[in-house]
Amino acid sequence: MLTNRDLEKMVDTSDDWIRTRTGIEERRIAPPGTTTSDLAFAAAQQALKQARLKPQDIELIIVATTTPDMLFPSTSCLVQQRLGATQAVCFDLSAACSGSVFAMITAQQYLLNGRYRNALVIGAEVLSSFIDWTDRSTCILFGDGAGACVLQPVKRGGILATDMGSDGRAADLLYMPGGGSKHPPSHQSVDQRLHFLRMNGTEIFKLAVRRMAESAQRVITTGKIKPERVACFIPHQANVRIIEAVVKRANLPPEKVFMNLQRYGNTSAASNLIALYEAVKTGRIKRGDHAVMVAFGAGLTWGSILLQW
Ligand code: UT7
Repeated sequence: MLTNRDLEKMVDTSDDWIRTRTGIEERRIAPPGTTTSDLAFAAAQQALKQARLKPQDIELIIVATTTPDMLFPSTSCLVQQRLGATQAVCFDLSAACSGSVFAMITAQQYLLNGRYRNALVIGAEVLSSFIDWTDRSTCILFGDGAGACVLQPVKRGGILATDMGSDGRAADLLYMPGGGSKHPPSHQSVDQRLHFLRMNGTEIFKLAVRRMAESAQRVITTGKIKPERVACFIPHQANVRIIEAVVKRANLPPEKVFMNLQRYGNTSAASNLIALYEAVKTGRIKRGDHAVMVAFGAGLTWGSILLQW
């Protein structure tokens, strides 16, 4: 665990600044040597146990991540091997913080067209490996984590409506320049700190509010449901001020919004799935309830899911 007080000793910041500007109090940091597939594997095991499925039952594994173990093979193949899910088709999905929502919608397509009946969706990140721990404008925001869910065809309920969008024009607002074909790893790329996340926080903030509010409203309209009938809203857990602004702009009931960012910070692709799990576990979402997941991330990407649990 890394608290705001710990960060005070690392960069020029304060517990008060971080709490009031972001709502974050602490975040989880994976021990050195821990990989994204380690976290993904642990979350997958729990999800399979809850779904009472054996690894061999899984036909599709999608891992949403911005911090894969390696550029290739995909982290999903590494998870498949650890699980022994020998029947599964596996691929990773890169949509930054919208990753788990994009992955759930992608898996849903295979269930709808009848191709697969048991899909495992995982959002997992070891962001701490890609954070510049000398940059106070970013290092205070992020944490490591993983969440997972099993998707199966259902006769009633399940995913009722979805919304997705992207805008590559704003790709330079949140990115990691190094390590790909544009800036392959070199002494120079390390010296220039290209292997760390970079962000224009203020611009991202404004676009996150606008895109998440619009997306939430669209999915509610498409699903033909009144906002007051939604038991729980699960926004991407980036910043309490972003969430409050989305709630206001989209006219959502604030008391129904789920937040756990105070404990985990922004866990990118893992964020919505960890929050969904905790919302269900704490009784904020009960069987038959409607819930809306809303995500936003680098790319830019955004998306929403209206579901009935
Ligand atoms: O999943 C999407 C990923 N990204 C996000 O969600 C992040 C979106 N952006 C944000 O959450 C906010 O923009 C931040 C939390 C990153 C920054 O909050 P802000 O209210 O936009 O602050 P700012 O960047 O306008 O900075 C205000 C001041 C600046 O000082 P001056 O220029 O006014 O003297 C910063 O240098 O706060 C300073 N500052 C800090 N001070 C103490 C920036 N970071 C820190 C810090 N501690 N950690």
